[in-house]
Amino acid sequence: MREKIVAGNWKMHKTLEESQALITEIRGIIRDELRGQTRVIVCPPFIALTAASRLLEGTDIGLGAQNCHFEDQGAYTGEISAPMVKSTGARYVIIGHSERRQFFGDTNEITARKAKNAIRHGLKVIFCVGETLQQREDKTYFKVVEAQLRDGLFDLDRKEFSQVVIAYEPVWAIGTGLTASPEQAQEMHAYIRKVVATHYTDEIAADTSILYGGSVKPDNAATLFGQEDIDGGLIGGAALKARDFVDIVKGMR
Ligand code: PGA
Repeated sequence: MREKIVAGNWKMHKTLEESQALITEIRGIIRDELRGQTRVIVCPPFIALTAASRLLEGTDIGLGAQNCHFEDQGAYTGEISAPMVKSTGARYVIIGHSERRQFFGDTNEITARKAKNAIRHGLKVIFCVGETLQQREDKTYFKVVEAQLRDGLFDLDRKEFSQVVIAYEPVWAIGTGLTASPEQAQEMHAYIRKVVATHYTDEIAADTSILYGGSVKPDNAATLFGQEDIDGGLIGGAALKARDFVDIVKGMR
């Protein structure tokens, strides 16, 4: 059965000290208030991964990076590879976030190489897909998301694909305060599951966690997470406040 997951994507926020403080706060509230069915994951910036890993030892909270390169090592100034991420203690990596696609040239082909290499090194991949406002208005959003899945993921064999969590994040809803309605999100999640079933099998599709991301807040989390094909969330802004983040996790019940 697929896992329920709420992951926090901190983006380019928090110094080392601030990250340690936020992790400590999240850890404390979760210990006191959650007996969870839901897997909670935090994705701080690279510089905080090692410290975060130590702080999360002995807890059920997972740790992820926000990106990694498709090569293991080499002359790629400023980049971080999957083995490097793994060596920090992180077990997840976000690949193909729309900000990477938009500002750093992450094409479908590059996301495919990144996902493949991360999985080869034993990381689980949170793979992001989603359409822009223009694509939503042009009504090409199903095609766009299908291409992102096909070109980014479907070279993976079944075993590799079992290490993938999909996150549907409509670009027009990220950091904008606009949220996809539960119906719009559910419609796309069901579509994604169908596409996965067509390429792999019904069973694999049923076992794949599909997260929603884009302005998830404590007050809209429960309705979104209540949809049949929404298995959790990828949280940006609201993941930077421990109270809000944990309240969003509680929306998962
Ligand atoms: P947001 O970001 O929650 O701030 O909209 C979500 C994301 O980009 O993962």
